[in-house]
Amino acid sequence: MHHWIVETRSPEQTRALGEVLGRLLGPSTVVLLSGDLGAGKTCFTQGLGRGLEVPEGEPVVSPSYTLMNQYRGRIDLYHFDLYRLVHPEDLLDLGFDEYLCGDGVTVVEWGDRFPGLGLEGVRVHLEHGEGELRRISISAEGESSQPLVEAFRRQWAAEGEPHDRV
Ligand SMILES: Nc1ncnc2c1ncn2[C@@H]1O[C@H](COP(=O)(O)OP(=O)(O)OP(=O)(O)O)[C@@H](O)[C@H]1O
Ligand SMILES: [Mg+2]
Repeated sequence: MHHWIVETRSPEQTRALGEVLGRLLGPSTVVLLSGDLGAGKTCFTQGLGRGLEVPEGEPVVSPSYTLMNQYRGRIDLYHFDLYRLVHPEDLLDLGFDEYLCGDGVTVVEWGDRFPGLGLEGVRVHLEHGEGELRRISISAEGESSQPLVEAFRRQWAAEGEPHDRV
């Protein structure tokens, strides 16, 4: 499996990474966020929302209690957090499948808790390092996301240097 790795040294740098992906995203895409509590999944999604042109007056906040928050941007953003989900069947009631297959961008935190869902998309896995260091690994879950993963890598490399100074 092809993957590439970024180290960020601040929340803003993780947002900048998410923003680069958000700018590249077209309709009907899925982004799978994994990693420990506080690793930066929601932080990454805040940047992704910026890249999708979600208005600044609509701040992207954690959906851990609501399971899903929805934002209107250049493309709609559906932000799920499955940490507190007990029964994956309950996702049907939420219309999860319709969101996944819809025209928007679906971001899923903690989707890896339910491997049976067989979720595919761009996977962003975040790990804690020392202090504010985060090690972020980006890969494709399913062949169809491979080109987007590669485009993301190239775009970050092209823009990466200024972010390194954040
Ligand atoms: N390099 C970094 N990247 C992202 N967040 C960082 C970084 N350094 C420090 N932080 C801090 O780590 C926390 C990340 O919180 P965030 O809510 O994004 O995590 P999460 O992975 O979504 O957690 P949860 O599983 O609880 O939803 C924030 O308080 C943020 O300020
Ligand atoms: Mg979160």
